[in-house]
Amino acid sequence: MAKPVRIAPSILAADFARLGSEIAAVTKAGADMIHVDVMDGHFVPNITIGSDVVKALRAHSALPFDVHLMISPVDPYVPGFAEAGADIITVHPEAGPHLHRTVQLIRSLGKKAGVALNPGTPVEALDNIIGDIDLVLVMTVNPGFGGQAFIDSQLAKIAAVRKMIDATGRDIDLEVDGGVNMDTAARVIAAGADLLVAGTATFKGGENAYAANIARLRGS
Ligand code: DX5
Ligand code: ZN
Repeated sequence: MAKPVRIAPSILAADFARLGSEIAAVTKAGADMIHVDVMDGHFVPNITIGSDVVKALRAHSALPFDVHLMISPVDPYVPGFAEAGADIITVHPEAGPHLHRTVQLIRSLGKKAGVALNPGTPVEALDNIIGDIDLVLVMTVNPGFGGQAFIDSQLAKIAAVRKMIDATGRDIDLEVDGGVNMDTAARVIAAGADLLVAGTATFKGGENAYAANIARLRGS
């Protein structure tokens, strides 16, 4: 069964010149975790931040850090993000030749392991790994940029992943990332998601609006 809906603001939409205070602000505004998008300009067509920035941000919030790695290769960088203070580390199956080894590496470092499905990646990519992970991330945009339009065809995938997770009987988060806003959040939740990433929709309107933005996304 789906758990209460949690919101993970993506700091990709925050003011990069003030990341520490932006993180503190969404923490105060009721966020459940901080979503950190790491991009390498190779696996995805954009470059963001590395583990040193994550380490510097760690002191600005007590919330779990949900680190979404859109980098290839990924294995050499996993220990650095673990050390920097990531609590969940999510990787894409296409980022390396040995997904199971990557998941083992993340868990050996005492971190939760997530697997992300791009819009074109089938649910079946989870078949032989679902028993070993703590989170599934369904991408509802192609990874690389914030502010893109939600891809409706992914709703059926969210529902299929919900079924797969429930069949395991294990506690696995179902996270959705990309184009989640006041219009799409309800459909994403209805399809079975329990963890919503929201960049643009969280950080719009300035600091005073963050609490209301987060509450509305949660459906409260
Ligand atoms: C896209 C990232 C997302 C992105 C979401 O590659 O993984 O986390 O920041 O941004 P919004 O919520 O603006 O679509
Ligand atoms: Zn993300």
